[in-house]
Amino acid sequence: MTSSASIVEVSGLQKRFGNHVAVDDVTFTVPEGGSVGIVGESGSGKTTIARMLVGLEVPTAGTIRVGGRDRMPHASVAERRRRARELQIVFQDPYSTLDPRQTVDSCLDEVLRLHRPELNRKGRLSRMNDLADMVGFDSRQRRALPRRLSGGQRQRVAIARALAVEPSAIILDESVSALDLSIQAQILNLLAEIRSETSIAYILISHDLAVIRQLTDTCVVMQHGRVLEVGETGAVLDNPQSEYTKLLRSCVPGPGWHPTRLRNIFPGGS
Ligand SMILES: Nc1ncnc2c1ncn2[C@@H]1O[C@H](COP(=O)(O)OP(=O)(O)O)[C@@H](O)[C@H]1O
Ligand SMILES: [Mg+2]
Repeated sequence: MTSSASIVEVSGLQKRFGNHVAVDDVTFTVPEGGSVGIVGESGSGKTTIARMLVGLEVPTAGTIRVGGRDRMPHASVAERRRRARELQIVFQDPYSTLDPRQTVDSCLDEVLRLHRPELNRKGRLSRMNDLADMVGFDSRQRRALPRRLSGGQRQRVAIARALAVEPSAIILDESVSALDLSIQAQILNLLAEIRSETSIAYILISHDLAVIRQLTDTCVVMQHGRVLEVGETGAVLDNPQSEYTKLLRSCVPGPGWHPTRLRNIFPGGS
């Protein structure tokens, strides 16, 4: 472990819904440019952590520091905008968060107007070209409305929109889970490439250990709202300390299955 600065620091985080404790005493850090996986079965509290990180839920207890600053609830509009530049989120189903009347380009343009006010029209266009290239959209797709796009393409829009903000970190909450395996592999490769080309950090939430293995350095194993194990991803997955992690691991398709090989089976393209 290096002692580099952290972009996200979560300490003693708790969330109660009535009597139900959805997240309990969760502590972890994400180094700048690092990639941390949060893994666990459905209902283990993963999404609730993500929602607290981006301010969609208020923690019952504990602290969240992003970019060295405490994230207190009830921030001003200017403060929320600043926070958006630190941390973006991509959900499992981007359709619900895309405006059905907005083309890919107008969606990106809107984000750039809001978060990159220093750019003029030409500057925004150039940035939109870069973003479209990065996620593999051609000019026809860029003029399309969300309903004309496939699930994988919508997820690319959501990723491009998050990248447009140039955040320090992106939370990906089951962002590839609903996609066909081949499309999933393309998006995972895209995310790996983006990370190697930018200094962005990932918080990758998944119930799928193959996804966690491909894209994260460190992983946090959650069960019933608590952290069960945390450590270097390879070590946790190859040599699980808890029975629960062993159980999760046994759900991975086939022993020796190695996601990077998919790159050879499903090369590039949209
Ligand atoms: N808004 C809410 N109100 C009540 N209970 C909730 C709410 N959101 C999540 N929960 C409960 O909190 C627990 C954790 O949910 P969640 O964070 O969505 O888990 P995961 O993302 O790991 O599947 C679950 O038992 C879920 O039913
Ligand atoms: Mg979830």
